[in-house]
Amino acid sequence: MADLMEKIVSLCKRRGFIFPSSEIYGGIGGFWDFGPLGAELKNNIKAWWWKTMVWERSEVYGLDSTIIHHPKVWQASGHTVSFTDSLRECKSCHQRFRTDKISDDKCPECGGKLTEVKQFNLMFETWVGSAKETANKAYLRPETCQGIFINFVNILNTVQPKLPFGIAQIGKGFRNEVTLGNFIFRDREFEMMELEYFVKPGEDEKWFDYWLKDRMKWYWDLGINRKNLRFFEHPKESLAHYSKRTVDIEYKFPFGWAELEGIANRTDFDLKNQAKFSGKDLSFQDEDGKKFYPYVIEPSVGVERIILALILEAYHEEKDKNSVRTILSLNPKVSPIKIAIFPLLANKPELVKVARQVFDKLRPAFYAAWDDRGNIGKRYYAQDEIGTPWCVTIDYQTLKDETVTVRDRDTMKQERLGIDKLKDFFQNELEK
Ligand code: GAP
Repeated sequence: MADLMEKIVSLCKRRGFIFPSSEIYGGIGGFWDFGPLGAELKNNIKAWWWKTMVWERSEVYGLDSTIIHHPKVWQASGHTVSFTDSLRECKSCHQRFRTDKISDDKCPECGGKLTEVKQFNLMFETWVGSAKETANKAYLRPETCQGIFINFVNILNTVQPKLPFGIAQIGKGFRNEVTLGNFIFRDREFEMMELEYFVKPGEDEKWFDYWLKDRMKWYWDLGINRKNLRFFEHPKESLAHYSKRTVDIEYKFPFGWAELEGIANRTDFDLKNQAKFSGKDLSFQDEDGKKFYPYVIEPSVGVERIILALILEAYHEEKDKNSVRTILSLNPKVSPIKIAIFPLLANKPELVKVARQVFDKLRPAFYAAWDDRGNIGKRYYAQDEIGTPWCVTIDYQTLKDETVTVRDRDTMKQERLGIDKLKDFFQNELEK
């Protein structure tokens, strides 16, 4: 299984999905750059989340808040005090280890003595303005949802929502994680997709169950096998400081079951605390004029974790007579490239000309790629490996009757379609 992770890391680098950040300087732990294919995959996942979480729900609104907030936001949220890892430092090599990752008093690296347990805050600090003074200290957000809570009244005033309603946000989060590894699973900079769903107190448990089911189905619909997904109920003693109940959706990664997404019942903790620290009234007024603080159900997930789960899930190899076909059976909705266009022979201008016309016709409605190198078999394999669902070949028959072959990644079946039918065909396939 470790072998699978290695294969995926190598594929991601080789084909331009994911590169270690700042690689020419030896890299910087916990930071990753997304190449041409990775950027497409990431954008497609975010767009799919936005479509299903915002556009398809008339009661959910979007937000794009800043990464840096007023530092008091993090006092109100409890992060300045509670967003910590318990660490012990090695007195010899000075490496730090999370206490839940070590079993005795010795350093796992060099065997040296460890210090007592210390609390280490995971928020990245920065300074706003020119002077590096305590008064100017700010933080890079470790979660995006506080931007939602501090804009609660702005949103009430602009859209006058009724309960239940949601506010959704996608954006960068930053955590100075101590334990890294497992490729992009735990990063120091990552992208979060969070929904804060505001409900009447007393209806929170019903809505919590609704979101558990809905979010699990979201992964099934994206093509993750049900047997590789499960719920994990957090025991009361390990709940985050704001949570009444948290259930994770876990994925069976090669390194074990681990959190893909968290669904938390944050109660009225955040709105009440932001109200207390800001001195502003952040309550909700219902139709009868009654004021109260709604409860919040929060499905929250990191895009990088979805990417890792989707690639692991989609990766497989098929042996044929002479070689191994590597296939990334991604759901076409998120595949980086939707269609690859091939002229059968690169040195036949009459084929290249028509292939170019087909390419131009399909772009930019679909993100399409052009390939005229090597033989067709090799071109198919190169597209299979990056998850391109369809390859279109322009051959001599095309010159006679304006049809092309459309080859399917998963079945390898080919069918002939008229050039004028292609757009509708792909549109229908992507809407399935
Ligand atoms: N606002 C709630 C919140 O931040 P969390 O469980 O700490 O909850 C939510 O984080 C999700 O963000 C996780 O389920 C995971 O998908 C992702 N995530 C958290 N820390 C991460 C990290 N260091 N690297 C990548 N993704 C991370």
